[in-house]
Amino acid sequence: MATPSSLLSFFSFILTISSLTIHTLSSSTDSFVFGGCTQQKYAPNSPYQSNLDSLLTSLVNSAAYSSYNNFTVIDSSPQDVVYGLFQCRGDLSMPDCATCVARAVTQVGSLCPATCGGAVQMQGCFIKYDNASFLGVEDKNVVMKKCGPSVAFDSEAEIMGRRDAVMAGLMNAGGPFREGGAGEVQGLAQCVGDLSLGQCQDCLSEAIGRLKNNCGTAAYGDMYLGKCYARYYIGGDHYYSNGHNDHKSGKGGDKIFAIIIGLLAGVALLIIFFTFIRKAFEGNGK
Ligand SMILES: *[C@@H]1O[C@H](CO)[C@@H](O)[C@H](O)[C@H]1NC(C)=O
Ligand SMILES: *[C@@H]1O[C@H](CO)[C@@H](O)[C@H](O)[C@H]1NC(C)=O
Repeated sequence: MATPSSLLSFFSFILTISSLTIHTLSSSTDSFVFGGCTQQKYAPNSPYQSNLDSLLTSLVNSAAYSSYNNFTVIDSSPQDVVYGLFQCRGDLSMPDCATCVARAVTQVGSLCPATCGGAVQMQGCFIKYDNASFLGVEDKNVVMKKCGPSVAFDSEAEIMGRRDAVMAGLMNAGGPFREGGAGEVQGLAQCVGDLSLGQCQDCLSEAIGRLKNNCGTAAYGDMYLGKCYARYYIGGDHYYSNGHNDHKSGKGGDKIFAIIIGLLAGVALLIIFFTFIRKAFEGNGK
């Protein structure tokens, strides 16, 4: 027969499960950030479609051993040539990179049905393809920007000074992937690997300038341009736990949902527990 203490341990087991769920939901690198498609479409079962399929397969396969690669599927008819690339965030392991690119390919398939070109940015990777070559071409158009709420810090000027210093540090660091931090400020920047170092510097300079102008004293900022992005986050959580990105992909909703389910399960168990206690006492009274 179930004793109150075994019921209690079942209760804490349920709570553990819901907190594990919350942790998993908030640490995903392959959640969707943005996507876009060209207007032109290709005909179903056309040579272009089969070239695109082989390009997307190459992206996924290549992401198992490289964090960046570009592909051109050549064809005897020039209008059927497809260009594409993927870029994983520089700190992702190869298995995570491959998983992310596979997710991005799935996303672009549902987002851009039969369009000649498409692009998807996930938290951990970026993919793009088109029938016009864009490889090695810098693109500083703003694709997506997001600023957190302005936070009234006790020492706002000091913290914003640190934010600016972290961003300057990212500018001075070399390579396509850059991260840095000072105190509670974390910064991250990434160029797509087809840019030269000079193009990457130029793109990041634009992204960081816009980030500071647009986001002012916001608690976090994300600035995604066509071929690079810069982000910062002020707070205690580690940057990549994505605490501040939850609402972007609806994970905040999932989190609240998981908490509510956890609470409901707890309440239900408490009711069962007290019913059990009452039954036990009634049983004793008889
Ligand atoms: C891309 O495909 C569209 C639709 O077939 C076509 O109009 C356009 O000219 C193509 N662009 C290039 C560069 O081939
Ligand atoms: C594309 O890939 C080829 C071979 O993998 C490489 O030599 C070339 O530099 C790349 N081009 C760009 C623009 O990244």
